[in-house]
Amino acid sequence: MAKTTKIATSLLLLLLLHLSSVSSWKKDEFRNCNQTPFCKRARSRKPGSCSLSATDVAINDGDLTAKLLTKKSGEENSEDDQEQEPTKPLILRLSVYQKEILRLKIDEDPSFDPPKKRFEVPDVILPEFDNKKLWLQRVSTEVIDGDSSPSSVVYLSNEYEAVLRHDPFEVYVRTRGGDRVLSMNSHGLFDFEQLRTKKKEGEDWEERFKGHTDTRPYGPQSISFDVSFYGADFVYGIPEHASSMVLNPTRGPGIDDSEPFRLFNLDVFEYVHDSPFGIYGSIPFMLSHGKDRGTSGFFWLNAAEMQIDVMGSGWDDESGISLPSSQDRIDTLWMSEAGIVDAFFFVGPRPKDVVRQYASVTGTSAMPQHFATAYHQCRWNYRDEEDVENVDSKFDEFDIPYDVLWLDIDHTDGKRYFTWDRMLFPNPIEMQNKLAAKGRHMVTIVDPHIKRDESFHLHKEATEMGYYVKDATGKDYDGWCWPGSSSYPDMLNPEIRSWWAEKFSFQNYRGSTPSLYIWNDMNEPSVFNGPEVTMPRDALHYGGVEHRELHNAYGYYFHMASADGLLRRGDGKDRPFVLSRAIFPGSQRHGAIWTGDNSADWDHLRVSVPMILTLGLTGMSFTGDGYIYIYAGADVGGFFGNPEPELLVRWYQLGAYYPFFRAHAHHDTKRREPWLFG
Ligand code: NOJ
Repeated sequence: MAKTTKIATSLLLLLLLHLSSVSSWKKDEFRNCNQTPFCKRARSRKPGSCSLSATDVAINDGDLTAKLLTKKSGEENSEDDQEQEPTKPLILRLSVYQKEILRLKIDEDPSFDPPKKRFEVPDVILPEFDNKKLWLQRVSTEVIDGDSSPSSVVYLSNEYEAVLRHDPFEVYVRTRGGDRVLSMNSHGLFDFEQLRTKKKEGEDWEERFKGHTDTRPYGPQSISFDVSFYGADFVYGIPEHASSMVLNPTRGPGIDDSEPFRLFNLDVFEYVHDSPFGIYGSIPFMLSHGKDRGTSGFFWLNAAEMQIDVMGSGWDDESGISLPSSQDRIDTLWMSEAGIVDAFFFVGPRPKDVVRQYASVTGTSAMPQHFATAYHQCRWNYRDEEDVENVDSKFDEFDIPYDVLWLDIDHTDGKRYFTWDRMLFPNPIEMQNKLAAKGRHMVTIVDPHIKRDESFHLHKEATEMGYYVKDATGKDYDGWCWPGSSSYPDMLNPEIRSWWAEKFSFQNYRGSTPSLYIWNDMNEPSVFNGPEVTMPRDALHYGGVEHRELHNAYGYYFHMASADGLLRRGDGKDRPFVLSRAIFPGSQRHGAIWTGDNSADWDHLRVSVPMILTLGLTGMSFTGDGYIYIYAGADVGGFFGNPEPELLVRWYQLGAYYPFFRAHAHHDTKRREPWLFG
């Protein structure tokens, strides 16, 4: 009986998947800000509601440190506030680095025994960044704007200084001449929900969406604050969204009902163009530009769901709070579900300075394989070895240059990655060698979901070693993806990443050769039966980290482990090529990315340009003197639907200028290799 139900469920799922692949974006599958408790709360806060002030300001280990206290800090709560614990101080640390970078960290005070350590994202900041720290020796004080207490001022460079205003609490960077560049909490919107232990039942301990319940064992733990960019006419960045390059205001007079820009890695079938909705990747790095001041940047290293509002001018008038004119300033509101504040202020002042400052924290792009900068031919799916041979020879027959042929999920034995369907691909080595003899390469897909099949060695090993992400009860998390019931290796754990990397050795990946490279897809991670097509937020990772704290970085660690696998195989001299769909700051170090499942229409062709340029601005680029090389691309021709000949021709013309130039198509579409169009 159980078996019949399981089969029926899988058939239903497959049917739903098929339907979703031919119809358009299912808006209701995904949460909006109002359905996301932390976003709704943060958006309803009024300017000036932060009551924190900085005390105990001192220099410690070359940093400026302080405690942030509210007027109520340490007090017992009133009767009706029983569930709340007394508000405890927060610890603030300001550090200064070479290249005019200010780093601000705010976390709970460990001496007050929070129920657990909040998640601080590891392995993104370059290890050598630490060596660039400038050891602060002294702090000067200054009374600003008639404040009742002084502000602390520290050296940032010969041209800039950083200010910690004590009361009201605010942090900003200014020129030595006193002009502000970037500031945080100038509108008093800072809020930091501290972890709690459950004392009685109530809404705080779980959240529901579309029949899914996520437990919140530590209560709400979000952080939000405002950031202002001075001398700015426009702001850019924070991919990944299918939207214009300039980020249009999401709040303010005359803007009704707009959603904030969402950063939450999601597998979105047929995403819509021109939308602030979150898609596959998240890079919480924003740049501003203005004709007077130039460029500045703000980066928040945090892997939880984030929502960012860009305020239209005059937004603060709405609240009745009188603030300095916003004429030459752009205000933004940053909201995250969990984690800590680990934020970087980049002063610029030229665009390329900001990109360099960001790259000195998160790294520069991996030098791609030469072949990978040329044209790639992909389709879901090239059916068998004969199909591969035909496609390959047609390129020669029609004298169309191409360098790489791709195989999607159906080349595997039942979606068990690192295997081959032996009926369709009986001689994978010979097939690759034939391509290699012509100087060509092959790419195969390797997704993170592992088929839960006792006879599959990878599943057996991962289960025995305890390598899977756990559900909230501590069992191996079981979700649905292409192979059916699947589990997901816990890529946060370096030991598991190392195990994964070894799977790419020629010995382990049977049928692979030195001319074979890798495509990581579905690594948001995509879970067909999970909330919003992903993993529940209360799933558990290495070190007790909740999935909600790390979600946006899961795919990054997966990509990192795969790229490491290609580095390790063979003689270790070969540069990896791994394409990833999910991205996070630092992804540029591990390989190329593409913009996922677009559609064969003119709007998707158009929006691919700002999407790829934005990725270039935020790290998926090489910056050198005078040029920026962006290692990203969009599916040429559009993944869903059948392009008319004119659209396909134009898309090839544009695609030739995408740094990563690959044609790809859904299996329901008509064949569209370039010679079929006359
Ligand atoms: C989703 C990817 O975005 C698409 O490119 C791929 O063809 C399918 N998964 C199947 O692997």
